Amino acid sequence: MTVGINSDTRNMAQVIDGRAVARRLEEQTMAEVDALVAAGKPHPGLAVVLVGDDPASEVYVRRKIKKCDEIGICSFEYRLPAETTQRELLSLIAQLNEDRVIHGILCQVPLPPHIDTRAVLDAIAPEKDVDGFHPVNVGRLSTGTGGIVPCTPLGVMMLLETVIDDFVGKHVVVIGKSNIVGKPIAMLLLERECTVTVTHIYTENLAELAAKADIIVAAAGAPELVKGDWVKPGAVVIDVGITRVTDQDGKEKLVGDVKFDEVQHAKAVTPAPGGVGPMTIACLLHNTVQAAKAFYQGAARNRDDPYHDAPDRSLIYGTAAKLQFACRGQERKESR
Ligand code: GUN
Repeated sequence: MTVGINSDTRNMAQVIDGRAVARRLEEQTMAEVDALVAAGKPHPGLAVVLVGDDPASEVYVRRKIKKCDEIGICSFEYRLPAETTQRELLSLIAQLNEDRVIHGILCQVPLPPHIDTRAVLDAIAPEKDVDGFHPVNVGRLSTGTGGIVPCTPLGVMMLLETVIDDFVGKHVVVIGKSNIVGKPIAMLLLERECTVTVTHIYTENLAELAAKADIIVAAAGAPELVKGDWVKPGAVVIDVGITRVTDQDGKEKLVGDVKFDEVQHAKAVTPAPGGVGPMTIACLLHNTVQAAKAFYQGAARNRDDPYHDAPDRSLIYGTAAKLQFACRGQERKESR
């Protein structure tokens, strides 16, 4: 008889608690803000630009701004009407690029269809691009030469760090090839010496490929795509997908890309919601503070040559990978 293990949970996968990891990262970020302010610098500033009235974007933006307030980041909200022209938006971005109290710029997407999203994202100064969407940051990530890492992939890496000690040689199957999740997560894992197979919903034999993986990152946006027999016993499964669906009773619910109940033979799995989601905002705050630190260290400022003086990746990713998990949230809230 096994003492101390409940027979109901003995064969269940470890649930990776994204909310708890996000909280610890936020506490660490708060401590970094404190250190900046103690050194006589202003609070980091994040400009959040929202064009139009997309209801989902409204919710995301509200959450981001609330979190900024909690952490000690000054948020500057720019709400523009849906009829805003591309020229007007680009003019705002140019102004924010030059504003010294703003260290990070986030332009919420999707943008209205008459605006060229790529042109707008490309106009954000790479050192203020806390989404990590600018081609300079994409290029830096691809070449392992620093830069700001997109928030969701960064959050995925931090969650993996909590359950994997050694990434070297691990076979990862990434399902999904998006620019903001699939491709960057593949780059981050390659950098950790994993063998990475990037797949998508049109990949032949997807189930068979997934079943050979030590790590599966499901980011296809396809509800419950990954079934029990897609997962090798002892694998780690990260569910990035989150889709709103209507169930048989007509109730709306959020569903991930993984059939959570069927993958309990995995070593560890993220729930959805409550896994990757909370990490995305925590990483946005983290990136903003790292951008502010890089700015004050003079590393991220050479407008004439954006390829020069790349912020050291260790500022962006390395410190986060070694989460210190200082616990002082309560104390901090009372002092504000
Ligand atoms: N829309 C949905 N998620 C995101 C995000 O992470 N960044 C931006 N800029 N827009 C989004």
